[in-house]
Amino acid sequence: MAKKLWGGRFSKKIDPLVEEFSKSISYDYKLARYDVLGSLSHVEILKKAGYLTPEETKKISQALDSIYKSIEAKTFKSDENSEDIHTDIQNKLYEKIGDLALKLHTARSRNDQVVFATKLYCKNSILSLQENIVLLMKAILGLSSGNKNIILPGFTHMQHAQPVYLKDYLGAYAEMLVRDKKRLEYVSEHIEITMGAGALAGTPIYADKYEIEASELVKKWKIGGISNLKAPVNSLDAVSDRDFVIEIISALSILAMHLSRLAEDLIIWSTKEFDFIEIDEAFCTGSSLMPQKKNADALELIRGCAGRLYGNLVSVLTMMKGLPLAYNRDMQLDKEPLFNSFEIISKELKILSGLVKTLKFNKEKIKEYLKDESLYATDLVYYLVGKKIAFKEAHTIVGKLVKYSIDNSINIKDMPENSLKKFCDKFVKAEIVKLFDPKVSVESKKSIQRTGK
Ligand code: ARG
Repeated sequence: MAKKLWGGRFSKKIDPLVEEFSKSISYDYKLARYDVLGSLSHVEILKKAGYLTPEETKKISQALDSIYKSIEAKTFKSDENSEDIHTDIQNKLYEKIGDLALKLHTARSRNDQVVFATKLYCKNSILSLQENIVLLMKAILGLSSGNKNIILPGFTHMQHAQPVYLKDYLGAYAEMLVRDKKRLEYVSEHIEITMGAGALAGTPIYADKYEIEASELVKKWKIGGISNLKAPVNSLDAVSDRDFVIEIISALSILAMHLSRLAEDLIIWSTKEFDFIEIDEAFCTGSSLMPQKKNADALELIRGCAGRLYGNLVSVLTMMKGLPLAYNRDMQLDKEPLFNSFEIISKELKILSGLVKTLKFNKEKIKEYLKDESLYATDLVYYLVGKKIAFKEAHTIVGKLVKYSIDNSINIKDMPENSLKKFCDKFVKAEIVKLFDPKVSVESKKSIQRTGK
């Protein structure tokens, strides 16, 4: 039976079901590395405050270092009987250096430890997630520059609207990813790493002893973007704040929503009805019954997983909303939604990067769709506006012309000039036939500051 970090006050054994119910080791082992880094910092603080001799500091630090190395080398095995990872590491330290390990918990609570480790985990996970966001951005921009001249029918309300460049369509997703990256950067920057809240009321150690230079931390923690370690401004807030978890899951939910929209566009484009794209077989699966099937399951799961992220966000928001100050055990339940959100998103970004890189566009099919004259109706309106007709009036004239063309199954382009002039005497056939051209249409839009032209 693994040792607990408490027990002196108890004469009875914990109910086995309660013990099982309260354990978090099955998931918070992911915080192992950050918990050890917190302990390494805490040892320095205890030395500065005179609770540990230089000799004791050295012994504890060396033992913690070796635990850290085993985590890095993936030889570290958490004991599933431990209540949580903080207990587990304390026990491992005890196995290594005996009673001296008991001094490490001086002026410290798991309440403080858990926030410290979770914050460090978040900062580090955001850094690696950002790399994956860049990976997808690069894949999208690569696809865009490899298909520079493709023009697509653009949609609003899922109806043909106006022609747009594929590079602008894809660029829209790149813009979303830029914002997602910035949002995460912002959240990470504002996570303050503190220690010294104790259980809730602070500790007898002076606040200045908790100040460790950023350069020292970066060296030790090997994690970028970290400001100085400080004592908290308010100890009750420090141990019971989970805003950072909520902010992160919220930013990840927005990112998941963007990825889901991209997935949906690609799913639609890959249907027989659209046939804009061919998705590489490596990203598809078949049917156990229908031999012809090639389904875009990976994209469907990316679309579906957005719901998981929203669920994670709602679960932590709901868990927090009724909690009185300060720490409550409910807060342990923020870990799974947090870890799960990071895991889903990083897989999605990697899968999408690979899928996007291998997408093939069916240029001929897309060209067919661009023959639809309705895509150029707005250009006809602008044409009449150029002839000094009021926009509203031009809109009505072209509306009537489009209806006539549909009702009589005749292309506007093929109508004789005298028929066109019945709608508006400003129409000159030789001029308007040039407007039914995707390139002319997209190039006539001057308001866009296109990147990568
Ligand atoms: N595993 C717990 C958590 O994640 C650690 C804190 C337990 N603290 C306590 N006072 N019982 O929240």
